Amino acid sequence: MEITHEIKRFDRKDFPILNADSGINKNLIYLDHAATTQKPIQVLKKLDEYYKNFNANVHRGAHQLSTKATEEFENARSIISQFINSKSSKEIIFTRNATEAINLVSRSWGEDMLKEGDEILISLMEHHSNIVPWQIVSAKIGCKLKFISIDQNGNLDLEDFKSKLNNKTKLVSIVHISNTLGCCNPIKEISKLVKQNDSLLLIDACQSLAHTKIDVQDLNIDFLAGSGHKLCGPTGIGFLWAREEILNSMPPFFGGGEMIQDVFEENSTWAELPHKFEAGTPAIAEAIALAEAIKYLTNLGIDKIAKYEKEITEYLFNKLAEIEEINIIGPHPSKDRQRASLAAFHLNSIHSNDVAEILDTKGICIRSGHHCCQPLHRYLGIKSTARISMNFTTTQEEIDTFIKETKETILFLKKFS
Ligand SMILES: Cc1ncc(COP(=O)(O)O)c(C=O)c1O
Repeated sequence: MEITHEIKRFDRKDFPILNADSGINKNLIYLDHAATTQKPIQVLKKLDEYYKNFNANVHRGAHQLSTKATEEFENARSIISQFINSKSSKEIIFTRNATEAINLVSRSWGEDMLKEGDEILISLMEHHSNIVPWQIVSAKIGCKLKFISIDQNGNLDLEDFKSKLNNKTKLVSIVHISNTLGCCNPIKEISKLVKQNDSLLLIDACQSLAHTKIDVQDLNIDFLAGSGHKLCGPTGIGFLWAREEILNSMPPFFGGGEMIQDVFEENSTWAELPHKFEAGTPAIAEAIALAEAIKYLTNLGIDKIAKYEKEITEYLFNKLAEIEEINIIGPHPSKDRQRASLAAFHLNSIHSNDVAEILDTKGICIRSGHHCCQPLHRYLGIKSTARISMNFTTTQEEIDTFIKETKETILFLKKFS
């Protein structure tokens, strides 16, 4: 099978780490993009440019440096806002990562709005960052946390979802694309049911933002959490998007500088959105560089990226089918359902850690473990899976090498199993 789709403006040389001709990264095959993506030179240059040319605090200084830093920082917010088609850049709150974005909602909205006996509905395939914050708030308030099950193909069980959604459900918080099963949840369908039920809907978009077009208005959701480092941007920066009226109704998350209007000895008043939720000096360079990463992806075209990744995923699945020891969890690629460009699998009588460790000695990076999805692994009755995750930089040749080396590794390990 030949990959027919091409990403026209993608130049592999943009990614220094993928082109090292010496050192530990020589001939690196990086297949762990779901954990974090590699960064193009444009993003690295932007970080450098900020510190070299206009390093200053934002929203404060009366000098030109601060004005320039503020302009770039607020422009980054607008770029993210346009990227997900939000109504206003005021709806974008910078956080450290998606985990912090979800905690912001659980602490601020959750602790303020939830009452004893209310229910929060999440799914068994959630990443721990979309489970633990809800456990904490549920224990504090006395709410019930319910889990939607998985069907036999490894998709979200919609019938189970419908049966658990009721008039006590105040929030449904669900992953868009699973980092382990690779399934793509039907958010529009889910949102219709959630809205009919007068509940709110939060989407964990960590694994979808860099791979598929997202339009928060069209999806008709209420909150969205994203991480910059999964989008070819730096670590330490993420964002929460929420509807303006909901953000206006929520109390602040952290208190401190930047988020206030006036501070008196007895009390304080809050700044307007988005600053009400951004206490202290933000990750300025990282926010600006994240915008650069988004420009990079937008230039390539998210639709083109999605087409390419669909083809390379089919290619990977065809190749993995040649290895009988491999059991993939999650749905297989199909014409009518989108699937992430990743595959998590367990192996008959071989531990996935051993496979990952041996592949690492050959310069191939994959991940092994529970991928922060312990409830999912427990439900499936497996302790750990190996995961290969790709993006638009992944080539057919890299997959071929991965398959060849995995076959050899399995043959070797079978001698000891
Ligand atoms: C689906 C999903 N949700 C949430 C997260 C958490 O992201 P972060 O650690 O950047 O907050 C991840 C990271 O792997 C993820 O894959």
